[in-house]
Parts: sequence; structure tokens; C-alpha cells
Amino acid sequence: VAIEGIDGCGKSLLAHNVYYQLKNLNKKVILTKEPGGTPFGEKVYTSLINADFMLSPEAEFLLFAASRAEHFDKVIIPNLLSESIILSDRMGDSSIVYQGYAKNQPTTMLTTINHWAMHTIQPAITFYVHIDINTALERIKQRNTALHIFEKKTFLEKTIQGFDALYHNRKDVIILDGTKDPIALAHQAVERILQHHE
Ligand code: TYD
Repeated sequence: VAIEGIDGCGKSLLAHNVYYQLKNLNKKVILTKEPGGTPFGEKVYTSLINADFMLSPEAEFLLFAASRAEHFDKVIIPNLLSESIILSDRMGDSSIVYQGYAKNQPTTMLTTINHWAMHTIQPAITFYVHIDINTALERIKQRNTALHIFEKKTFLEKTIQGFDALYHNRKDVIILDGTKDPIALAHQAVERILQHHE
């Protein structure tokens, strides 16, 4: 199960709430994330976040993809084999949106590399936590005041448009309203996961 959405949409909170609700139902479930999810992935994430130089979008994507390949090899595939429900806070589609739509890299090429890195495994369900630009900006402002707000706003708008375009008319994608009560959202997501799993 992939959980996707823009920065500030409440994706990580949803992932945690869904995880604990499934645990309470005695389901075998693991919670993981991208970027990160493995010791190598955490190193990649730290170097991307702390980079004091402008990385090319190609190099940026390849680092996310390398982290993803390691995540599939060490976490996703072994846990699929043990029949756990795997919840991942972001997955391949984040690259299609952030490096593809928002940073203008060719989405066909990124999709091909993603498939390879993910051993052609696709999430059974993707939850897209949707919020509008103003809610996102408001939440991000509460977390961090030192933002170049115009750049940030333009970028955020591109990522919203990217997710909206990518997830238009997709049967495997469930769109959740990220402004709703977080516990109710998690209930909704858990129901959909159980319907699929049983
Ligand atoms: P993170 O601190 O995990 O943010 P969030 O809680 O919003 O997920 O950092 C992830 C950042 O990396 C986020 O801005 C999205 C970005 N990202 C990409 O640009 N490409 C990717 O493939 C992934 C997985 C994340």
C-alpha cells in the first residue's frame, strides 16, 4: 500500500494511524517509507536534504531510485514473501511527480527506471491524500518559517498538478480529503485495505 501526496498533506500521520489501527486488528503489517526505509536510504535522504549545492535533477532522481531499489530488495520483497501488509509513506510515484512533473524530467524514462528498481512490483492500492495549495502552505508555515514562499508555492502547485494528472481516472488510486479528521481518514483507508486483503 503506497501513501502519496504533497508536503504537508498529512500523509505520514495517515500512515501511522493506519498502521496502529491494523495492528489493533492483529494484522501482520509493517510501516516503511521513501526516501529512507533502509540504512542506505537514510544516508541518501540525509545527503539529499543537507546538500549545500544544487544537484542536477537527473542525479537527484537516480539517488531516489537507488534508495528505492535498496528498499525493494531489503524491505518490500522480503515482507511481501511473509504476507505482511506493507504500508509505505511515499513510493515510486513521488519521483514521477517531484522529479518528473515538477522538475521536468521525462516521465516515461523515470517510469521505466522505477519499474526496474521496483522489480516490476506495483502497489495494490495507492492512497492519495489530497489538499489544496492554501492548506498546504498554512501547514508548512507552521512547521518552518524560513521558506522562500514564492518558490515554494510554485513548486507545491506543480506537485499538486502532477499528482492530480497522474491519478486522474485510476482504479487503483483512492483519493482521500486531507482536510478531514485524521482518525476518520485512517478508518476509511483501513476499510479499503481490508476489503482488498480478505
Ligand atoms: P520527507 O522529509 O520524508 O517529507 P514528507 O514528510 O513530505 O514525505 O522528504 C521527502 C521529500 O523528498 C519530499 O519533499 C518529497 C521528496 N521526494 C522526491 O522528490 N522524490 C522521491 O522519489 C521521493 C520518494 C521523495
